[in-house]
Amino acid sequence: MLDHYNDRWALITGASSGIGAEFAVQLAGRGMHLVMAARRGDRMAELARELNTRHGTRCHIAEIDLAEPDSGALLFDELRRMGVEVELVVNNAGIGMIGQVESTDPDDVRHMLNLNLLTLTDLTYRFLPGMLERNHGAIVNVSSQAAFQPVAFMGAYAASKSYILHFSEALWAEVRSRGVTVTALCPGVTRTEFFEHAGAPGWLEKHISQTPAKVVKQALRAMEKRRQYVVPSWKDYLVTLLVRLTSRRTAVNESKRYFRPGRSDRDAGKSD
Ligand SMILES: NC(=O)c1ccc[n+]([C@@H]2O[C@H](COP(=O)([O-])OP(=O)(O)OC[C@H]3O[C@@H](n4cnc5c(N)ncnc54)[C@H](OP(=O)(O)O)[C@@H]3O)[C@@H](O)[C@H]2O)c1
Repeated sequence: MLDHYNDRWALITGASSGIGAEFAVQLAGRGMHLVMAARRGDRMAELARELNTRHGTRCHIAEIDLAEPDSGALLFDELRRMGVEVELVVNNAGIGMIGQVESTDPDDVRHMLNLNLLTLTDLTYRFLPGMLERNHGAIVNVSSQAAFQPVAFMGAYAASKSYILHFSEALWAEVRSRGVTVTALCPGVTRTEFFEHAGAPGWLEKHISQTPAKVVKQALRAMEKRRQYVVPSWKDYLVTLLVRLTSRRTAVNESKRYFRPGRSDRDAGKSD
Protein backbone atom coordinates (compact mmCIF):
# COMPACT_ATOMS: atom_id res chain seq x y z
CA MET A 1 0.00 0.00 0.00
CA LEU A 2 1.13 3.56 -0.56
CA ASP A 3 1.79 5.12 2.84
CA HIS A 4 2.58 8.42 1.20
CA TYR A 5 2.99 9.81 -2.28
CA ASN A 6 5.42 12.65 -1.80
CA ASP A 7 8.76 12.26 -3.59
CA ARG A 8 7.94 8.70 -4.65
CA TRP A 9 7.98 7.52 -8.26
CA ALA A 10 5.00 6.29 -10.27
CA LEU A 11 5.26 4.54 -13.62
CA ILE A 12 2.30 5.26 -15.87
CA THR A 13 1.97 3.44 -19.17
CA GLY A 14 -0.08 5.17 -21.85
CA ALA A 15 0.54 8.56 -20.26
CA SER A 16 0.35 10.49 -23.55
CA SER A 17 -3.44 10.86 -23.54
CA GLY A 18 -6.78 10.09 -21.89
CA ILE A 19 -6.88 8.23 -18.58
CA GLY A 20 -3.08 7.81 -18.40
CA ALA A 21 -2.43 11.54 -18.84
CA GLU A 22 -5.00 12.22 -16.12
CA PHE A 23 -3.22 9.80 -13.77
CA ALA A 24 -0.08 11.85 -14.43
CA VAL A 25 -1.89 15.09 -13.52
CA GLN A 26 -3.47 13.76 -10.31
CA LEU A 27 -0.38 11.90 -9.09
CA ALA A 28 1.84 14.91 -9.76
CA GLY A 29 -0.67 16.94 -7.75
CA ARG A 30 -0.07 14.55 -4.84
CA GLY A 31 3.69 15.12 -5.06
CA MET A 32 4.78 12.03 -7.00
CA HIS A 33 7.51 11.98 -9.64
CA LEU A 34 6.61 10.28 -12.88
CA VAL A 35 7.90 7.83 -15.41
CA MET A 36 5.63 8.32 -18.40
CA ALA A 37 5.69 5.56 -21.03
CA ALA A 38 4.03 5.56 -24.45
CA ARG A 39 4.95 6.14 -28.11
CA ARG A 40 4.08 9.84 -28.48
CA GLY A 41 7.02 11.41 -26.69
CA ASP A 42 6.11 14.96 -27.74
CA ARG A 43 2.75 14.78 -25.96
CA MET A 44 4.33 13.41 -22.78
CA ALA A 45 7.13 16.00 -22.88
CA GLU A 46 4.56 18.80 -23.09
CA LEU A 47 2.62 17.41 -20.12
CA ALA A 48 5.86 16.88 -18.17
CA ARG A 49 6.82 20.54 -18.71
CA GLU A 50 3.42 21.65 -17.45
CA LEU A 51 3.59 19.44 -14.35
CA ASN A 52 7.13 20.53 -13.59
CA THR A 53 6.09 24.18 -13.72
CA ARG A 54 2.98 23.58 -11.62
CA HIS A 55 4.30 21.16 -8.98
CA GLY A 56 8.05 20.77 -9.52
CA THR A 57 7.39 17.20 -10.73
CA ARG A 58 10.43 15.26 -11.95
CA CYS A 59 9.46 13.32 -15.07
CA HIS A 60 11.23 10.69 -17.07
CA ILE A 61 9.80 10.15 -20.54
CA ALA A 62 10.10 6.64 -21.95
CA GLU A 63 9.18 6.76 -25.63
CA ILE A 64 8.46 3.09 -26.20
CA ASP A 65 6.15 0.76 -28.12
CA LEU A 66 4.73 -1.44 -25.38
CA ALA A 67 3.26 -3.89 -27.88
CA GLU A 68 6.81 -5.10 -28.59
CA PRO A 69 7.42 -8.40 -26.79
CA ASP A 70 10.53 -7.32 -24.86
CA SER A 71 9.34 -3.79 -24.05
CA GLY A 72 8.50 -4.58 -20.40
CA ALA A 73 12.01 -5.90 -19.77
CA LEU A 74 13.58 -2.90 -21.55
CA LEU A 75 11.60 -0.42 -19.48
CA PHE A 76 12.26 -2.24 -16.21
CA ASP A 77 16.02 -2.46 -16.89
CA GLU A 78 16.18 1.20 -17.91
CA LEU A 79 14.59 2.29 -14.63
CA ARG A 80 16.80 -0.03 -12.59
CA ARG A 81 19.92 1.42 -14.26
CA MET A 82 18.66 4.92 -13.42
CA GLY A 83 18.10 3.91 -9.80
CA VAL A 84 14.40 4.75 -9.93
CA GLU A 85 12.47 2.85 -7.27
CA VAL A 86 8.90 2.55 -8.50
CA GLU A 87 6.30 2.81 -5.74
CA LEU A 88 3.23 2.73 -7.97
CA VAL A 89 2.71 1.14 -11.38
CA VAL A 90 -0.31 2.19 -13.40
CA ASN A 91 -0.66 -0.32 -16.22
CA ASN A 92 -2.97 1.79 -18.31
CA ALA A 93 -1.75 1.58 -21.95
CA GLY A 94 -4.31 -0.29 -23.97
CA ILE A 95 -6.24 -0.22 -27.22
CA GLY A 96 -9.59 -1.50 -28.38
CA MET A 97 -10.76 -3.08 -31.62
CA ILE A 98 -14.34 -2.95 -32.82
CA GLY A 99 -15.50 -4.78 -35.93
CA GLN A 100 -16.77 -7.90 -37.60
CA VAL A 101 -14.61 -11.01 -37.78
CA GLU A 102 -14.09 -10.84 -41.57
CA SER A 103 -12.81 -7.28 -41.43
CA THR A 104 -10.44 -7.93 -38.53
CA ASP A 105 -6.74 -8.32 -39.26
CA PRO A 106 -5.31 -11.10 -37.04
CA ASP A 107 -2.01 -9.20 -36.85
CA ASP A 108 -3.85 -6.24 -35.33
CA VAL A 109 -5.46 -8.54 -32.77
CA ARG A 110 -2.05 -9.96 -31.82
CA HIS A 111 -0.68 -6.42 -31.49
CA MET A 112 -3.58 -5.49 -29.19
CA LEU A 113 -3.18 -8.58 -27.02
CA ASN A 114 0.58 -8.03 -26.74
CA LEU A 115 -0.12 -4.55 -25.40
CA ASN A 116 -3.25 -5.17 -23.32
CA LEU A 117 -2.19 -8.50 -21.81
CA LEU A 118 1.39 -9.55 -22.23
CA THR A 119 3.20 -6.32 -21.43
CA LEU A 120 0.83 -5.56 -18.55
CA THR A 121 1.50 -9.03 -17.11
CA ASP A 122 5.23 -8.71 -17.69
CA LEU A 123 5.48 -5.31 -15.98
CA THR A 124 3.37 -6.55 -13.06
CA TYR A 125 5.66 -9.55 -12.47
CA ARG A 126 8.79 -7.43 -12.80
CA PHE A 127 7.79 -4.64 -10.40
CA LEU A 128 5.83 -6.60 -7.75
CA PRO A 129 8.76 -8.49 -6.17
CA GLY A 130 10.60 -5.24 -5.29
CA MET A 131 7.43 -3.87 -3.68
CA LEU A 132 6.97 -7.09 -1.69
CA GLU A 133 10.57 -6.91 -0.52
CA ARG A 134 10.03 -3.33 0.69
CA ASN A 135 6.56 -4.18 2.07
CA HIS A 136 4.95 -1.25 0.32
CA GLY A 137 3.77 -0.31 -3.13
CA ALA A 138 0.74 -0.49 -5.37
CA ILE A 139 -0.30 -1.55 -8.83
CA VAL A 140 -3.35 -0.26 -10.68
CA ASN A 141 -4.22 -2.32 -13.74
CA VAL A 142 -6.66 -0.68 -16.10
CA SER A 143 -9.37 -3.15 -17.07
CA SER A 144 -12.87 -2.12 -18.19
CA GLN A 145 -16.55 -2.47 -17.49
CA ALA A 146 -16.37 -4.78 -20.54
CA ALA A 147 -14.45 -7.23 -18.33
CA PHE A 148 -17.68 -8.45 -16.73
CA GLN A 149 -19.25 -9.99 -19.82
CA PRO A 150 -18.52 -11.10 -23.38
CA VAL A 151 -19.06 -8.22 -25.84
CA ALA A 152 -20.02 -8.97 -29.45
CA PHE A 153 -17.96 -7.19 -32.14
CA MET A 154 -15.20 -6.48 -29.61
CA GLY A 155 -14.73 -10.01 -28.32
CA ALA A 156 -10.93 -10.09 -28.10
CA TYR A 157 -10.77 -6.68 -26.43
CA ALA A 158 -13.44 -7.48 -23.83
CA ALA A 159 -11.81 -10.85 -23.11
CA SER A 160 -8.44 -9.14 -22.66
CA LYS A 161 -10.03 -6.91 -20.03
CA SER A 162 -11.59 -9.95 -18.26
CA TYR A 163 -8.09 -11.38 -18.07
CA ILE A 164 -6.79 -8.16 -16.48
CA LEU A 165 -9.62 -8.16 -13.91
CA HIS A 166 -9.09 -11.80 -12.92
CA PHE A 167 -5.30 -11.57 -12.95
CA SER A 168 -5.35 -8.46 -10.76
CA GLU A 169 -7.88 -9.87 -8.30
CA ALA A 170 -5.84 -13.04 -7.89
CA LEU A 171 -2.71 -11.00 -7.15
CA TRP A 172 -4.66 -8.75 -4.78
CA ALA A 173 -5.55 -11.82 -2.71
CA GLU A 174 -1.97 -13.11 -2.86
CA VAL A 175 -0.15 -9.96 -1.76
CA ARG A 176 -2.57 -7.94 0.36
CA SER A 177 -1.18 -9.15 3.68
CA ARG A 178 2.31 -8.05 2.66
CA GLY A 179 1.81 -4.30 2.48
CA VAL A 180 1.24 -4.21 -1.27
CA THR A 181 -2.04 -3.67 -3.10
CA VAL A 182 -3.28 -4.47 -6.59
CA THR A 183 -6.44 -2.81 -7.90
CA ALA A 184 -8.25 -3.40 -11.20
CA LEU A 185 -9.81 -0.22 -12.56
CA CYS A 186 -12.94 -0.99 -14.61
CA PRO A 187 -14.23 2.20 -16.24
CA GLY A 188 -17.31 2.42 -18.41
CA VAL A 189 -17.41 4.80 -21.36
CA THR A 190 -14.88 7.58 -20.79
CA ARG A 191 -14.16 10.68 -22.91
CA THR A 192 -10.75 9.87 -24.44
CA GLU A 193 -9.30 9.03 -27.84
CA PHE A 194 -10.09 5.33 -27.25
CA PHE A 195 -13.11 4.93 -29.58
CA GLU A 196 -11.50 6.93 -32.37
CA HIS A 197 -8.50 4.57 -32.37
CA ALA A 198 -10.68 1.47 -31.84
CA GLY A 199 -12.49 1.96 -35.16
CA ALA A 200 -15.64 3.68 -33.93
CA PRO A 201 -15.13 7.41 -34.56
CA GLY A 202 -18.16 9.43 -33.46
CA TRP A 203 -19.34 6.69 -31.10
CA LEU A 204 -18.48 8.72 -28.03
CA GLU A 205 -20.63 11.65 -29.11
CA LYS A 206 -23.73 9.41 -29.21
CA HIS A 207 -23.35 7.88 -25.75
CA ILE A 208 -23.24 8.99 -22.14
CA SER A 209 -19.66 9.18 -20.95
CA GLN A 210 -17.63 10.23 -17.93
CA THR A 211 -14.47 12.30 -17.67
CA PRO A 212 -11.00 10.82 -17.13
CA ALA A 213 -10.72 13.11 -14.08
CA LYS A 214 -13.61 11.32 -12.34
CA VAL A 215 -12.30 7.89 -13.30
CA VAL A 216 -8.83 8.57 -11.91
CA LYS A 217 -10.16 10.14 -8.71
CA GLN A 218 -12.23 7.01 -8.04
CA ALA A 219 -9.29 4.77 -8.96
CA LEU A 220 -6.94 6.44 -6.49
CA ARG A 221 -9.58 6.36 -3.78
CA ALA A 222 -10.09 2.61 -4.36
CA MET A 223 -6.34 2.02 -4.32
CA GLU A 224 -6.03 3.91 -1.02
CA LYS A 225 -8.83 1.77 0.43
CA ARG A 226 -6.97 -1.30 -0.86
CA ARG A 227 -9.93 -2.45 -2.94
CA GLN A 228 -9.48 -5.28 -5.43
CA TYR A 229 -11.44 -3.57 -8.18
CA VAL A 230 -13.45 -0.45 -8.84
CA VAL A 231 -16.13 0.50 -11.36
CA PRO A 232 -16.02 4.30 -11.17
CA SER A 233 -19.68 5.08 -11.95
CA TRP A 234 -22.51 3.59 -9.89
CA LYS A 235 -24.66 3.20 -13.02
CA ASP A 236 -21.93 1.15 -14.68
CA TYR A 237 -21.53 -0.79 -11.44
CA LEU A 238 -25.26 -1.63 -11.51
CA VAL A 239 -24.90 -2.96 -15.05
CA THR A 240 -22.12 -5.30 -13.90
CA LEU A 241 -24.50 -6.62 -11.21
CA LEU A 242 -27.35 -7.07 -13.71
CA VAL A 243 -25.05 -9.10 -15.93
CA ARG A 244 -24.54 -11.52 -13.04
CA LEU A 245 -28.31 -11.93 -12.62
CA THR A 246 -29.17 -12.54 -16.25
CA SER A 247 -28.34 -15.61 -18.37
CA ARG A 248 -25.04 -15.60 -20.26
CA ARG A 249 -27.00 -15.96 -23.51
CA THR A 250 -29.06 -12.84 -22.79
CA ALA A 251 -25.99 -10.87 -21.72
CA VAL A 252 -24.03 -11.58 -24.87
CA ASN A 253 -27.04 -11.08 -27.15
CA GLU A 254 -27.75 -7.72 -25.51
CA SER A 255 -24.14 -6.69 -26.10
CA LYS A 256 -24.75 -6.80 -29.88
CA ARG A 257 -26.71 -3.57 -29.66
CA TYR A 258 -23.63 -1.51 -28.86
CA PHE A 259 -20.90 -2.18 -31.36
CA ARG A 260 -22.52 -3.76 -34.43
CA PRO A 261 -20.71 -2.00 -37.30
CA GLY A 262 -22.90 0.13 -39.52
CA ARG A 263 -25.98 -0.31 -37.36
CA SER A 264 -28.00 2.84 -36.85
CA ASP A 265 -29.14 3.89 -33.39
CA ARG A 266 -32.73 3.22 -34.53
CA ASP A 267 -31.87 -0.45 -35.06
CA ALA A 268 -29.98 -0.76 -31.81
CA GLY A 269 -31.49 -3.21 -29.39
CA LYS A 270 -33.45 -5.26 -31.98
CA SER A 271 -32.46 -8.88 -31.75
CA ASP A 272 -31.96 -11.21 -34.72
N1 LIG B 1 -12.13 5.34 -22.86
C1 LIG B 1 -12.93 4.37 -22.43
O1 LIG B 1 -14.17 4.41 -22.60
C2 LIG B 1 -12.34 3.18 -21.68
C3 LIG B 1 -13.22 2.34 -20.99
C4 LIG B 1 -12.71 1.25 -20.31
C5 LIG B 1 -11.35 1.02 -20.27
N2 LIG B 1 -10.50 1.85 -20.95
C6 LIG B 1 -9.06 1.56 -20.91
O2 LIG B 1 -8.36 2.71 -20.49
C7 LIG B 1 -7.01 2.62 -20.92
C8 LIG B 1 -6.56 3.96 -21.46
O3 LIG B 1 -7.29 4.26 -22.62
P1 LIG B 1 -7.91 5.70 -22.89
O4 LIG B 1 -9.38 5.57 -22.82
O5 LIG B 1 -7.25 6.72 -22.06
O6 LIG B 1 -7.57 5.87 -24.45
P2 LIG B 1 -6.46 6.75 -25.19
O7 LIG B 1 -6.68 8.19 -24.93
O8 LIG B 1 -6.49 6.28 -26.60
O9 LIG B 1 -5.10 6.34 -24.49
C9 LIG B 1 -4.42 5.14 -24.78
C10 LIG B 1 -3.00 5.25 -24.29
O10 LIG B 1 -2.33 4.00 -24.57
C11 LIG B 1 -1.12 4.28 -25.24
N3 LIG B 1 -0.74 3.24 -26.20
C12 LIG B 1 -1.47 2.74 -27.21
N4 LIG B 1 -0.74 1.87 -27.92
C13 LIG B 1 0.48 1.83 -27.34
C14 LIG B 1 1.69 1.14 -27.61
N5 LIG B 1 1.79 0.29 -28.63
N6 LIG B 1 2.77 1.36 -26.82
C15 LIG B 1 2.68 2.23 -25.77
N7 LIG B 1 1.58 2.91 -25.45
C16 LIG B 1 0.49 2.71 -26.23
C17 LIG B 1 -1.39 5.58 -26.00
O11 LIG B 1 -0.13 6.24 -26.23
P3 LIG B 1 0.63 6.36 -27.65
O12 LIG B 1 -0.40 6.30 -28.72
O13 LIG B 1 1.34 7.67 -27.52
O14 LIG B 1 1.57 5.20 -27.67
C18 LIG B 1 -2.24 6.34 -25.01
O15 LIG B 1 -1.42 7.03 -24.10
C19 LIG B 1 -6.95 1.47 -21.93
O16 LIG B 1 -6.38 0.34 -21.31
C20 LIG B 1 -8.42 1.20 -22.24
O17 LIG B 1 -8.65 -0.14 -22.59
C21 LIG B 1 -10.98 2.93 -21.65
